[in-house]
Parts: sequence; C-alpha cells; structure tokens
Amino acid sequence: MAPFDVVIRGTSEVLTLSGRPDEPAESALAPIPNGAIGIVEGKIAWLGPEAALPQDGVGPATEIIEAGGGFVGPGFVDPHTHLVFAGERSGEFDQRARGKSYLELGAAGGGIMATVRATRAASEGELVALAGPRLRRLLDQGVTTAEVKSGYGLTVADEVKLLRAVRHLGTDQPIELVPTLLCAHAVPEEHRSDRARFVSLCVEEIIPAVAQEDLAKTCDIFVDEGAFTHDEARKILGAARAKGLAVRLHADQLTANAGSELAAELGARSADHLENVSPAGVAALAKAGVSAVLVPTSTLFLRAERYAPGHALRTAGVNVALCTNVNPGSAMSENVSLTLGLACLENGLTAAEAFWGFTRGAAIALGLPEHGRLAVGGPADAVVFGCSSYLHLPYHLGVNHARAVVKRGLLVASPRGLGTELCH
Ligand code: NIG
Repeated sequence: MAPFDVVIRGTSEVLTLSGRPDEPAESALAPIPNGAIGIVEGKIAWLGPEAALPQDGVGPATEIIEAGGGFVGPGFVDPHTHLVFAGERSGEFDQRARGKSYLELGAAGGGIMATVRATRAASEGELVALAGPRLRRLLDQGVTTAEVKSGYGLTVADEVKLLRAVRHLGTDQPIELVPTLLCAHAVPEEHRSDRARFVSLCVEEIIPAVAQEDLAKTCDIFVDEGAFTHDEARKILGAARAKGLAVRLHADQLTANAGSELAAELGARSADHLENVSPAGVAALAKAGVSAVLVPTSTLFLRAERYAPGHALRTAGVNVALCTNVNPGSAMSENVSLTLGLACLENGLTAAEAFWGFTRGAAIALGLPEHGRLAVGGPADAVVFGCSSYLHLPYHLGVNHARAVVKRGLLVASPRGLGTELCH
C-alpha cells in the first residue's frame, strides 16, 4: 500500500457518525475506540482501530497528527447562518435587556431592516472582509461546512451582491459554504404599502437572477407574524422550485403559525427554529421526512420563552439538527459549544443527540450525504478535540475544545495547539 498523506492517531475514540438518524444517538455516533484515520488526497482512505493501522501506510512524508488522547469526530456542519452582513445591532441587545421585544424593535425601524440598510450600503468586497473573521471563529471551533443565507439585500442587485460575496468567501478560506437565497426575509420598507409587488419581485426577478448565475442551490423564507404568509410562501418557494432550487423555511419561530405544517406540505428540506411548533406540526414534519434545525442560541439571545421541543421531535422520528444561526439580530454568536450545551439544557436533547445534530443531522438537513460523518471514500473533514469524550462539549459550557481542524485532509486550524493537556 502507498503511504497515507496524513494519519490521525493517538485518539481516545473516533466518532464515525455512521449510524441511522432513527437509531439511538449513542449507537449512531458509531465510535471506534482508540481509532485512527489514514487520509489520501483529501479523502479518508482507511479508518479503524489504531492497532490495525497498516504499517506501510506511514512513510517518511506522512504527516502525523497526534490526538494525545483526545477524541476525534467529523467537522461540524453549521446548517443555518446569516453571517454575511454589514453593521451591528448591539443597541438592540441592550434594549432587550431593558425589556423591549424583538418584534417591537423591528416595528420601530430596527431589526432585519436595520441590517438591510447597512448591507445595501456596503460593497461586495466590504461584505467579504466583514464576514471573514466570523468564518474564522467558526473554523476555530471545528466547523468545516456552513450554510450561509442572503436576506439582507432584498433587491435584485443587493441579493446578488451578497451571494457573490458568499461565493467569493467559499474560495478564499477553508470552510465549505452552502449558499441559500433568502430574498423573503422581510418585506422591505419601500414595498410595505404593496406587499404583492415585493412577492412579484422575488418570483419574477430575484429568483431568476440568482438561478441564472447559480448563486444558490436552496431558497428559504421567513414565515411568521411581521414576515411572510403561507400564501406568499407558496408563491415564492414554488417559483424557486421551478428554477431547480430546494426549499426550506423559518417556521414557528416567534409565533405558532403552522409553518411546520407548511414545510411538510411543500416537501421542504428543513423547517428551522420551531420554538412554537405544535404537536400537529411535529407529526407533519415526521410524516413528510422534513429535518428540523433548532436554534437554541436565538431563544436565549431574544429572551424568548420557548425552546424548540427537540426531544419530542426526535421521539416522533424527525432528524434533528442544530445550528449557530450567527446573525446580528437574534444570535450574535459563533459558539458551537454553547449551542450544544443549550440543546441539552433547554431543547431536551442528550449529549449524543446534540453531537449528531451538529454533524450528521446537520448534513442531512443540507442534503449533503457525505458530510458530518467519517467514512472511507468520504471527505477527510475532522476535528481533534482536547478532551477524551464528546460528553465534555456541552458540559463545559461555551468553551472551545477543538485542538486541530482538518478540512479535506489539510490541517487548517489548531486553535488550542496539539500537545496541550486534555481537559478533565
Ligand atoms: O433566523 N428569523 C429570522 N431571521 C434571523 C434573524 C435575522 C435578524 O434579526 O437579523 C433568524 O433568527
């Protein structure tokens, strides 16, 4: 056998995530105790117990990554972010601390439209420069794939500008980006007196322009009070689907609006948020095979009452994913560990279910069958953690344990440095 380009060894265990979404998460993590990984040309060429590592697989040019007793898992997949934007809304955070709600701040001229004004004023290059450090913070925590939405442009030119910035970012930093068109994020001020005109703009101009340049593979919509109605969603997502885009929805976030039932009706890839999903909505998602993407940091950040019912969703048979939702209004945080911790504390997930949700579950929600897992022939996207078990990630709340991040076989970040002592 030709030597591997890279070998990861010295692990407590390698979590392969090769189980099924409907089996208990502990077994779906499918660990290999004291596992090792051999990598060739960015793909996993060998995976198994270190004791069985082929001797001729390690040659003079093989790069060895010593895990030092830490566990290894697939790179995290963040399936819902809005990380390309200009401006910031720390003043709104402070107003919420004083008792104002997200909807009140939006109605007073802040909220999504505040970010839209700042983003429209920024150039593509400025958006790229602003988003770079946010991606770096995700990478340092082990995120190797991330979805990025538009939604802060809301004109043809500005939505295209934002998605071109995403395309540019996908080529000049290590995280693989999955772009999503979210032209129906808010009805912009200039269309408030004629919502139908804005829906037509989405259907007749924005979606075709984005599809023509192949700037997004998926289209999302915010269905809620103060956002879009079911009928508007049917029109916009119908037009997106006709252009070959998959669809997904922000559903049942701020109010119970049967967005989950709509996601099921439309055969959406995912329904995201679900803080106010009803039992009928949970059943509809399960029946239609729609993934649920939960956003616990937003509940915390907005001082909202409800966390999405992760346990009920899983019990019903729904694939449950987790995301950071990093954005300037409802979740200004790239913290993966905090998300995992809140999922256990507030969404009713176990540590194994939370880890599944930020890896394989998230990849399924994005329609990426090879991501979020470690398998021979699949992409060598892996994280070496500075602790011996995944149980430590949600438990040591908000702390980054990623020691080394590997994307397509390349060591792209080592935030804590290999060789540092394990966290106990
Ligand atoms: O997913 N809910 C809608 N969109 C974002 C918030 C965007 C903003 O406030 O800027 C979310 O939470």
